[in-house]
Amino acid sequence: MIRLSKSCLSIREIRNVKRILKKEFLGMGAEVKKFEDELKAFFKRKVLCVNSGTAALHLALQACSIKRGDEVLVPAITYLATFQAISATGAKPVMCDVNLEDLNISLESAKKNFTKKTKAIIPVHFMGHPCDLDKIYKFAKEKKIRVIEDSAHAFGSFYKTKKIGSIGDINCFSFDGIKNITSGEGGCVVTNDKKILTKVSNSRLLGVIGESKKRYNGDRNWRYEVKEQGWRYHMSDINAAIGRAQLSRFKQLSKKRKILSKYYEKILSKNNKIFKIIKRDFSKEVPHIYCVIVKNLKKRGLLVKDLVKQNVQLGTHYYPGYKVKYYKKPKKFFPNVEKIYDKVITLPLHPDLNVKDLDLIVKKIKKSLNKKIYF
Ligand SMILES: Cc1ncc(COP(=O)(O)O)c(C=O)c1O
Repeated sequence: MIRLSKSCLSIREIRNVKRILKKEFLGMGAEVKKFEDELKAFFKRKVLCVNSGTAALHLALQACSIKRGDEVLVPAITYLATFQAISATGAKPVMCDVNLEDLNISLESAKKNFTKKTKAIIPVHFMGHPCDLDKIYKFAKEKKIRVIEDSAHAFGSFYKTKKIGSIGDINCFSFDGIKNITSGEGGCVVTNDKKILTKVSNSRLLGVIGESKKRYNGDRNWRYEVKEQGWRYHMSDINAAIGRAQLSRFKQLSKKRKILSKYYEKILSKNNKIFKIIKRDFSKEVPHIYCVIVKNLKKRGLLVKDLVKQNVQLGTHYYPGYKVKYYKKPKKFFPNVEKIYDKVITLPLHPDLNVKDLDLIVKKIKKSLNKKIYF
């Protein structure tokens, strides 16, 4: 089976994990601090690690004092985690339509959905493709709202000349098993805002004030002070050890993702009657996933099943958030999502693939589409 995505590990990750196991200290300690320092050098900004990208978003929102009665603007096309992080604070995720060209949040729709209750916007750099940050920050400044970038897909991507995470208000990354770098499970919050950093560093450890510093040194607070709701969201040294090895390999991992995506673009654009390519600049972005639009596709589910029979796993990113009961909203508010979402297929992409695999994948998809039953 050619897998849609996978963790791509080397001897370095294995050695690092062994080193931690031998210490018999598996909690949050010096290894997490080292990973944070290395990430700080990467982003040129302070970084706090947590146990998932969802936790990073939840804590960032909480640190911005977002609560019940507030509203947060978010694209309708994103992973469920983005919505759930918002609703975990008691606030309402207000879903917005997406741009047809890149599937990122439509600013026009965000403007329409803005109300007095809107406290933040979460642009999602879908696939690793950066949102139009100049326009988003201009809007946020005018409306005096926070910007929490969901950069789960965009580790290593650039907006113009600046690395995602090195600019802006607050950035949240995910290091789950299939991301551009993985720590097994994990995530981080990146910001320059000292108040946010203090809040997140406490709230990831049950809100215990100053607990992070103690943990870095293998210590803990026995008599503690807590002023806010906290969570058990800290990262473990095991996960940090995996993350550090991945970060040291990032140049090579990201290069491979770029080469493969460029190759997809090349072979798919030769078949422009069947496929519509989403224009991306792989000199600036590190693709987390590779999506393509199959023109006039009506039976996407059947196509995915047929490819599985041929040992190719496809993805369908993402099921629109307004279709699930918990967040139900009429589809008439999302003309662009409705036009496009069920024509998008995600092709296998991870650094252990090679261009020959891609030739085979596209050949099999084209052969399957020849059957015409999907249109
Ligand atoms: C766009 C997006 N946001 C948030 C998350 C949540 O990250 P995690 O799985 O690490 O909780 C993901 C994970 O897949 C994601 O794709």
